[in-house]
Amino acid sequence: MFPNHRPRRLRRTPALRRMVSETAVEPRQLVLPMFVKEGATEPTPIGSMPGVVQHTRDTLRKAAVEAVRAGVGGIMLFGVPETRDAVGSGGVDPDGVLNVALRDLRAELGDETVLMADLCLDEFTDHGHCGVLDAHGEVDNDATLAVYADMALAQAEAGAHLLGPSGMMDGQVGVIREALDTAGHHDIGLLAYSAKFASALFGPFREAVDSQLTGDRKTYQQDPANAREALREVTLDLTEGADLVMVKPALAYLDVIRAVRELSDVPVAAYQVSGEYAMVEAAAANGWLDRRRTVLETLTSIRRAGADVILTYWAAEAAGWLREH
Ligand code: PBG
Repeated sequence: MFPNHRPRRLRRTPALRRMVSETAVEPRQLVLPMFVKEGATEPTPIGSMPGVVQHTRDTLRKAAVEAVRAGVGGIMLFGVPETRDAVGSGGVDPDGVLNVALRDLRAELGDETVLMADLCLDEFTDHGHCGVLDAHGEVDNDATLAVYADMALAQAEAGAHLLGPSGMMDGQVGVIREALDTAGHHDIGLLAYSAKFASALFGPFREAVDSQLTGDRKTYQQDPANAREALREVTLDLTEGADLVMVKPALAYLDVIRAVRELSDVPVAAYQVSGEYAMVEAAAANGWLDRRRTVLETLTSIRRAGADVILTYWAAEAAGWLREH
């Protein structure tokens, strides 16, 4: 009697489907990226990321506590400075906005959550690049490494549990690891943005951090066409001492997430970036997509591809939905 095989039997009731579901997303696996703006007295909405704001120090503290109460696994913090210079001094300055906000959050939350900091210069430079420039206006890899080392120490001292080097400079993980160890910060871990692509999907983030960039980041971020190269980047970061490795963006790079999962023996993170957020929000606002179902489906797909941890602007809201189940 045809058909002899009937997979639909296991889909017949919600209870059957729940029992055989292969992939779960849990709030503890979600990390909320947050923005804090120097000198702000009111939270500033980010037009291209409806629902996301540049926080004041005060609203950041409150929103972070709320997100942690909602069950998120951690917070990734970005600073938006009032003034910028060629070498990104604001990122190294202990009184710079990111380091001040890290101190605020660590004082507020202690070890209750995992506090992470973006370790990159682009928010702090007046040219918007992730590194310092040489005499020809090119990003100077090795000169940048020295600044990253100083920035790492400032973030460690400000209370971050994990640092997230995201500038895609060669050798950044090794240099930062060594600087931390030399200063006695053996216990501060590195979440390396190992496979980060020169993606159009970072578009809305430029508004989120008031980016000053005019060109692109193609001389340091990876060509979206390259998956083998992503594995090479991951291998190098593991050799240099990365504690977790990240693929970014997420949804357009699920194959890379899977390949990294199979290659590495450390936790794999994926960053569902600003453009991924904006696409769904825009479609949902038009009534073209069911917002909640789409968000949960994308998160599930990123988990299914092999990510242990997902950075997502929906982290707190999704954590709330997942707890309702
Ligand atoms: C660099 C950094 C960027 C993002 C995270 N860290 C910007 C870039 O590389 O252009 C993008 C995150 C997003 O788009 O959500 N500091």
